[in-house]
Amino acid sequence: MTQFINAREALVPEAIDGLLRGSAGRLARLDGFPHIKVVVRSDWDGAKVALVSGGGSGHEPAHAGFVGQGMLTAAVCGEVFASPSADAVLAGIWKGRSPGELKAAALEVTAQQRPSEFASRLENVLAGENDIALQQTALALAGGVPEAAKAATGAVVANWMKMLLATEVPMELRLDVLEAATALGASLPELADAVAAYEAARPKPSVGANGLPVMPLPKELLKGGDKERGRDVVTNHLAGNCLACHVVEAAEGSNVGPSLLGIGKLKPREYLLEALLQPGTVIAPGYGMISVTLKDGNALAGTVLEETADTLKLRAADGSESVLPKSEIAAQTPPISVMPPMLGILTKREIRDVVAYLMSLTKLPKKEEEH
Ligand code: HEC
Repeated sequence: MTQFINAREALVPEAIDGLLRGSAGRLARLDGFPHIKVVVRSDWDGAKVALVSGGGSGHEPAHAGFVGQGMLTAAVCGEVFASPSADAVLAGIWKGRSPGELKAAALEVTAQQRPSEFASRLENVLAGENDIALQQTALALAGGVPEAAKAATGAVVANWMKMLLATEVPMELRLDVLEAATALGASLPELADAVAAYEAARPKPSVGANGLPVMPLPKELLKGGDKERGRDVVTNHLAGNCLACHVVEAAEGSNVGPSLLGIGKLKPREYLLEALLQPGTVIAPGYGMISVTLKDGNALAGTVLEETADTLKLRAADGSESVLPKSEIAAQTPPISVMPPMLGILTKREIRDVVAYLMSLTKLPKKEEEH
């Protein structure tokens, strides 16, 4: 006897078999064995971070020997002295109840390198995973799949567009479904039609108190944003330029606009979205710009600081304040906001993220800091 193994190709599967039999049920393997050689803890509940390692199998499939309590959650074993296949790694990620970020990365690899498998993964993630961030990533990837995967991916997205039209899609995913459908709609007319139908079914604009049209709120921007990305937009987006006009988290900052400290506690979500999209509809008291024509022909412009039955207190752009008797006013414009409407400056996604961030600002300023 020159070797004590049966056959080179059978060595690793047999060694894994032996390990599993000796484990008294503590170890299991994933489907796809022996092509996919992934050994996992059978008692793994998936709620905690999984530690997965792997590599070529040397004198024995050594990594599998380190799977167990206090050790690895799973091992992805390759052939003798060969790295595990990409299939095995991906299988380990999907079956191992891995964290969402890892699954998102696996989806990205699938979209690029295994486009024919993407649609079914997308379907499973949307229907079966309870992870909004992962589902959002899946839909973002769906919009940009390679040509070969478009038809199958489009069919999954078309299904979700139907659910969207029936308002069966959670608020957090509506924008993502719409954007995936819009992107795929460039080559799949069925999806372009579904997007058009959704847009046509939106409520019509009404007329606000100031006589200007008020657009109904696009509900898909209310929920599902990421507050960290939102903070990044508010702090760093050059054109959005929030900090040029607002105090946000720090005590100091510009007071062209109202302080946003604690705004998430003071205002509902809908109000914040409205403030970003149509600043003119809801004007924070003391921040409306008006211009006034007096009976003597003079004109003044500024923000209304205070209004009583017979006076109007204005602050001009240079900071000077004046109290005008209403009896001297010939005409005045409705108040407008100096804040630019943010759609167009920011993307819809960014606006959704900013709403999430503003909602997270729940710390009220200390009393003595109020002015
Ligand atoms: C050119 C100045 C300017 C810029 C830039 C600006 N804002 Fe404003 N903002 C204002 C003014 C003035 C108001 C008060 C008038 C109003 O309600 O529209 C306001 C109001 C708001 C309100 C409502 C606050 C309340 O108490 O009612 C929110 C929320 C808000 N801004 C957020 C933002 C965010 C987020 C950005 C950046 C993406 C931003 N603003 C950029 C000037 C600005």
